[in-house]
Amino acid sequence: MEIKFTEENLKKLDKAKSHYPKSDAALMPALWLAQEQFGWLSIDVMKYVGSILNIPYEHVLGAAEFYTMYYKKPVGKNHLQVCTNISCMLCGAYDILDYISDKLDIKTGETTQDGKFMLSEAECLGSCGTAPMLQLNNYYEENLTKEKIDNLIEKLSKS
Ligand code: FES
Repeated sequence: MEIKFTEENLKKLDKAKSHYPKSDAALMPALWLAQEQFGWLSIDVMKYVGSILNIPYEHVLGAAEFYTMYYKKPVGKNHLQVCTNISCMLCGAYDILDYISDKLDIKTGETTQDGKFMLSEAECLGSCGTAPMLQLNNYYEENLTKEKIDNLIEKLSKS
């Protein structure tokens, strides 16, 4: 597979670069676009991002390694990130995490064999008022119960 941004993503990147005096400052949005397009940030993808921003690969890798929101390995189609920070923890986040883990038969950090689900533990996602909650790809699922988890996983399994 050729690693190259789509025309649409190149336009988005140009727009992001226009917000900064130097194009290398657009590294974060460039990595985000790359992750959206390619699914995760492989070495080749990071080298590509570096080449179009004129940034050494080591610099790109440093940024990607620092932020947990960037995936450095393939993830499941549905990435379930359960917040276990204080508000969610007090509202049963670890019960939810364990429930999902048992239901999907994977541990935190693992992906199901069919590639449909990945389970992670997350720090506070800024939605403490609706604890316990999780982030599903780019969306929030809130006020979680085991019944809601059952419905969610059933729906996602069919898609
Ligand atoms: S503690 Fe879970 S969203 Fe803030």
